[in-house]
Amino acid sequence: MRMRGGFSLTVFFALACACARPTASVDQTPTTEVSQASAEGGAEQGVAAELDQTPSIIKAMRLHGFGEPDVLVYEDAPLPPAPGPGELRVRVHAVGINPLDHKVRAGMVPRLVADRFPFILGWDLSGTVESVGPDVSAFAVGDPIFAMLALHRAGAYAEYTIVHVDEAAPKPASLSHEQAAAVPLAGLTAWQALVDTAALTAGQTVLIHGGSGGVGSFAIQIAKARGARVIATASAANQDLLRELGADLAIDYRATKFEDVAGAVDVVLDTVGGNTQARSIGIVKAGGIIVSIVAPPDPEALAARGIRGTRLIVHPDAAALVQLGALIDAKKLTPVVSQVFALAEAALAHTAVASGHTRGKIVLRVEPRGAH
Ligand SMILES: NC(=O)c1ccc[n+]([C@@H]2O[C@H](COP(=O)([O-])OP(=O)(O)OC[C@H]3O[C@@H](n4cnc5c(N)ncnc54)[C@H](OP(=O)(O)O)[C@@H]3O)[C@@H](O)[C@H]2O)c1
Repeated sequence: MRMRGGFSLTVFFALACACARPTASVDQTPTTEVSQASAEGGAEQGVAAELDQTPSIIKAMRLHGFGEPDVLVYEDAPLPPAPGPGELRVRVHAVGINPLDHKVRAGMVPRLVADRFPFILGWDLSGTVESVGPDVSAFAVGDPIFAMLALHRAGAYAEYTIVHVDEAAPKPASLSHEQAAAVPLAGLTAWQALVDTAALTAGQTVLIHGGSGGVGSFAIQIAKARGARVIATASAANQDLLRELGADLAIDYRATKFEDVAGAVDVVLDTVGGNTQARSIGIVKAGGIIVSIVAPPDPEALAARGIRGTRLIVHPDAAALVQLGALIDAKKLTPVVSQVFALAEAALAHTAVASGHTRGKIVLRVEPRGAH
């Protein structure tokens, strides 16, 4: 993505990453794979066709209880069963990390696991279709796909997992698997907040909190692609990143009160909550909207200003993933991948994401078999 000043985001993040962590690496090399998502799957249709080399025992990172990152155990696990109707079994090449991952591991969202230990975390993945369910025509064996799994399912921290067809879309051809795995949950959250909920249009002004994080880095770019004026907040170290992503006004939230320099906005995307959310309500113009992804806005405060407000919970959406993919291949949207760890190093990724200061996204690489 060529940014103002002729600085490429790809180069920028490759450099930032190379400096960030010796054991982490970033694969920014675009692949040449093209997903056809074709109904012409040949003999595979109507049966769960499996590749000969599919193992019966796979490697997975499994959770044996709630707690610190060391409850994650990299170990053998059974191959997920053959895909049923509407399902794909996918060879996972890369997994996107979200704050949700460490919150669930720490026991902050126990209902998502219930008593299903050993539990396989992970909602974001990029991989290759290994087998298809009986009625699947939208994907064929060998298709590269990216997907957000339903919140109640999870299972991406593994060499193979089950993906429902309505959770998946063809992987953007211009992205590597590691880049593509960074997109789904955070990209869909930004899309569902700004496009589906706020119906952001050209000429409107949007305030995006946490613009350098996973959701915010997609939100800035989506808002700019829709022709909006973007105000974004982050710490001092990420001011350049906000501008590279397209923010018209970048605010260091520690140095400047955003309400002192921004006002009369049409839309706020709240990724922070608390006092930041309460102060944000005060600068939304009448008829505007605040969409929070962390906490429901106070109804009385909304009514007092004559604005709307809601809390969004992201959900899988294959059609929106296709639209994100189109923006990506049109070079209007670029995932920011700041760190890549091996699947076996998921604990390190959890410690990093738990800081609340992730720059763009963190990704796990799933090694080819035999590379362990
Ligand atoms: N409801 C949903 O469906 C949904 C979906 C996705 C995420 N979430 C939640 O939304 C939150 C954000 O997710 P994420 O993936 O974007 O997290 P993330 O990747 O960890 O990014 C957080 C960002 O927030 C910035 N930040 C921290 N404190 C801030 C403050 N006081 N003001 C402004 N920016 C601040 C950080 O920037 P600096 O490092 O520069 O401080 C960082 O870039 C998390 O709590 C996550 O669990 C909810």
